[in-house]
Amino acid sequence: MVKVLVAGFKGRMGNTTVQMVLEHADFELVAVYDPMASEKNLNENPAYAQTDVPVFNQLVDIDTKAEVWVDFTRPDSVFENAQYALQHGISPVIGTTGLQDDQVIQLQALAKQKGVGGLIAPNFGISAVLLMQFAQKAAQYLPDVEIIEMHHDNKLDAPSGTAINTAKMIAEVRQAHKQGHPEEKETLAGARGADYEGMRIHAVRLPGYVAHEQVLFGGKGEALTIRQDSFDRISFMSGVAVAIEKIRAYQELMVGLENLL
Ligand SMILES: NC(=O)c1ccc[n+]([C@@H]2O[C@H](COP(=O)([O-])OP(=O)(O)OC[C@H]3O[C@@H](n4cnc5c(N)ncnc54)[C@H](O)[C@@H]3O)[C@@H](O)[C@H]2O)c1
Repeated sequence: MVKVLVAGFKGRMGNTTVQMVLEHADFELVAVYDPMASEKNLNENPAYAQTDVPVFNQLVDIDTKAEVWVDFTRPDSVFENAQYALQHGISPVIGTTGLQDDQVIQLQALAKQKGVGGLIAPNFGISAVLLMQFAQKAAQYLPDVEIIEMHHDNKLDAPSGTAINTAKMIAEVRQAHKQGHPEEKETLAGARGADYEGMRIHAVRLPGYVAHEQVLFGGKGEALTIRQDSFDRISFMSGVAVAIEKIRAYQELMVGLENLL
C-alpha cells in the first residue's frame, strides 16, 4: 500500500484525488492538507463519515508517514509545498500549475540532493499528453503554429501549464521565428496573445469549460488542428494513479507524465 497525502483536498482536483485514493486498492490515504480546513479529521465531513484520516491546515503542523504528496493547490503555494515534501523524503506528485522555470530547477536540485523521486505534470490526462506529442511531431513539418487553451473561469494562471509545455515541446523541434506579418500591429492590446519564441498562445476563460486545448498549424494551402478535451476531472485520475504507483522508484524530479508511461 502506498501511503498518500493529498494537499489542496478542499479544492476541485484535491477532492477528486481523495476519492480516487480511497477507492484504489493499493493506496492508503494517511493525511490531507488544506489551509481552508477547520476540521481535525476527514470523518467530520458527512461525505467521509467512515474515513479516519487526520486533517492539517498548516504546513508546520504536518506529522505524517506519507510516501507520496499529491499537490493540487495554488500557483503561489506549490513551490513551498514541494520543498517541504522533498525535505521530508516524501515524493511530490505535482499537478498544480504555475511553477516558474527557476523554481523547477531548484526543486530538481533538492530532489537530487535528497535522492527523492518526484513528478511535475502540467496535465495528467492521456489525451493532453498525446496532444503534446502529436503537436511536436507536426511542428517538424508545419512550423507555423498557434495554441488556444480553454479553461473554466476559476483558473488562476494563464496561459495553462499544458499550453506552456506544448510550446516548449514544439520549440525543441521548431526554429524560433516570429509569425504573422512583420509589420503587424495590435490595435487592441493582447489581440495576438502571448509570445513564446514567436508562437502565439491564447487563453480563453469561460464558465462551463473544464480543460481544453487546440494546436493550430498552418502551411501553404493547408492546415492541421489537433484538439483535446477534458470534460471531467476524473479524466486526470488514471494519470495521477500511475504517478503515485511509480514515482518512488525514481531518485529525480521529472516534468511530464510521459516520463512514467
Ligand atoms: N495537472 C493537471 O492535470 C491539472 C488538472 C486540473 C487542474 N490542475 C491545476 O491544479 C490546481 C488546483 O486546481 P483546482 O481546480 O482544484 O483549484 P481549487 O481552487 O478548486 O483548489 C485549490 C485548493 O488548494 C487549497 N490551498 C491553497 N493554498 C494551499 C496550500 N498552501 N497548501 C495546500 N492547499 C492549499 C485551497 O484552499 C483550495 O481548496 C491548479 O493549479 C490547476 O491549474 C492541474
